[in-house]
Amino acid sequence: MAGGVFRLTHGLSVERTSEMLGVCYYPEQWAEARWADDARRMADMGLAYVRIAEFAWARMEPREGEYEWGWLDRAIETLAGAGLKIVLGTPTATPPYWLIAKYPEILPVGIDGRQRGFGSRRHVSFSSAVYRREARRIVDAMATRYGSHPGVAGWQTDNEYGCHDTARSYGDLDREAFQVWLAERYGSIEALNEAWGNVFWSMEYPDFGAVGLPNATVTEPNPSHALDFARFASDMVVEFNRAQTEILRRKSPGRFITHNFMQRTLTFDHFRLAEDLDFASWDSYPLGKLEVIFDDDRDAELKRTYARVGHPDGPAFHHDLYRAMGNGRFWVMEQQPGPVNWAPWNPAPVSGAVRLWTWEALAHGADVVSYFRWRQPPFAQEQMHTGLHRPDDSPDFGAEEAMRVAEELKSLALEPTAPAPVALFFDYQTAWTYEVQPQGRDFDYFRLCFDWYSAVRRLGIDVDIVGSGHDLADYPVVLVPSLAMAEDAVWQRLGRRTKTTLYGPRTGSKTLNMGIPETLPPGPLAETLPLRVLQVESLRPGVAHTLRIGNRTGSASRWAERLETDLDADIRFDDGTPALVRKGQQRYLACWPDDETLVDIMTDLMRDAGLEPALLPDGLRLRRRGSITFAFNRNSQAMEVPAPAGARFVVGGRTIPNGGVAAWRDE
Ligand code: GAL
Repeated sequence: MAGGVFRLTHGLSVERTSEMLGVCYYPEQWAEARWADDARRMADMGLAYVRIAEFAWARMEPREGEYEWGWLDRAIETLAGAGLKIVLGTPTATPPYWLIAKYPEILPVGIDGRQRGFGSRRHVSFSSAVYRREARRIVDAMATRYGSHPGVAGWQTDNEYGCHDTARSYGDLDREAFQVWLAERYGSIEALNEAWGNVFWSMEYPDFGAVGLPNATVTEPNPSHALDFARFASDMVVEFNRAQTEILRRKSPGRFITHNFMQRTLTFDHFRLAEDLDFASWDSYPLGKLEVIFDDDRDAELKRTYARVGHPDGPAFHHDLYRAMGNGRFWVMEQQPGPVNWAPWNPAPVSGAVRLWTWEALAHGADVVSYFRWRQPPFAQEQMHTGLHRPDDSPDFGAEEAMRVAEELKSLALEPTAPAPVALFFDYQTAWTYEVQPQGRDFDYFRLCFDWYSAVRRLGIDVDIVGSGHDLADYPVVLVPSLAMAEDAVWQRLGRRTKTTLYGPRTGSKTLNMGIPETLPPGPLAETLPLRVLQVESLRPGVAHTLRIGNRTGSASRWAERLETDLDADIRFDDGTPALVRKGQQRYLACWPDDETLVDIMTDLMRDAGLEPALLPDGLRLRRRGSITFAFNRNSQAMEVPAPAGARFVVGGRTIPNGGVAAWRDE
């Protein structure tokens, strides 16, 4: 996929359903005598893919320049010999001790200014030229040895870029790389001073060498400075990854290249990084992430309700996001199999949840779902993290559910997923903008997008997530929860839409330099929707505006804007000022409404676009893949699924328990 505008083509052929499951395996962590039996049992379970090696640098190159491939040769032979297809991970998330001892400057520095040490993982800065050289060297060596091995199906670069908050590093070499990046972007220090508004507080710099990192200031740094640092850090991750993909393309022809992204990780532009991949993968931990994603004061009830099965839209949002980065393809590279070890609390999934998560990924278009991990290790950091097998090798509860899916897949051919009727626009630069300048503590861009997404999913309608490079013309509905700033071409593409489009608060609120637009927000969007935002306010929990929607009321919390406009208003604040305005099929929402009001707004929008929204009971969700409709129940009660009378069920039946799945074919 090259840059620029591309269309979602959404797969081309019927998937081979016998090859849709996989597992993560660490041969270096187990006695070699066990490998053959492990491999045979993987194949017997119905697993087709096995990902290995992504943390094994110290065993591949125990001393600088001394490679020991023998063990990996034998592991690959053993796994491939059992009929498994291998995904090789490049080991650059875990440089060995000798490398750190020799080049300590590659260690990352935290936002607190302290250098991080050896003894876990991701102990590197992405901007280190030395580390890039070392990474290229080990990737080259691996690709030279295994690039054409018939057992190797593809590659995973590194592991979870940005994990443990490591996309941004604040050391001396990061500062120097940032200065170079700024010089390229602005050309002269005068241009930088002008763009950032450094006349304020006498912040003008004499030259690029004087510009520091935005972590060491007394109070908040200039937001333009902080946003540029976020852009720079993102570019460093993209470049680091590209250094690997260039080698792999050359030395391992015909093999796919992917990367395993994470949930709710916003510190680099995943769309840009994915341009260098064949498709995106992501790591799905629905229970662990329920604890860490929903950290708003208001989420306690939600976390109790879904503690053992995960949020009904949590994995779904990420399936749809990562599918957007691979032209309709994606993998789940790591699937939670049972309790994990890293969240504040680590409950056991309700019986059936591992099966539900697997089917849900497939329903959203996944090519492969790969479980993390084959066996729970009795040692080190993840000894309390379950796998498909317990440390004594007995099958854990998750294994039974994985085997059940493997069995069910045998009799079901999955077709490609089709484009959804609704596109939700997701933008990393906007996420950085509001991270730098939230203006209200709980103005969280991810949460805003998630709330909009969730409202549509509650209506039983499928959603594609799109980025600024996607073609939006054919979508009956486009949702832009917020777009702080964009290149002209993006505004023009949005402006050409005549079909239903909804823009959310703070859209067009910033220039690319992170200033206020000369004409006031919504900046370039005013050409489509003639209005001016005269005032904005953020609201602490418990303070809200009443909204008047026809003859019912709702509320707006977190954020509200006072608009000046002659446009018709479908919703007004209590004082009569407009909260939702429209011109033709283009609308602007000037607040963050409560969930039910958002569902009402989406219902109207979907109806206007000729879709058929139907509110689902709490915890029930639908998703279509080809001619099959899937239903997933996270409600604590058994639920009847909304299948038409006489529907032919291919998975489950009309009534499904909590953690249950049903699927039927549209006749
Ligand atoms: C992922 C990571 C794995 C493992 C797993 C545990 O974030 O990629 O290596 O740590 O979490 O849940």
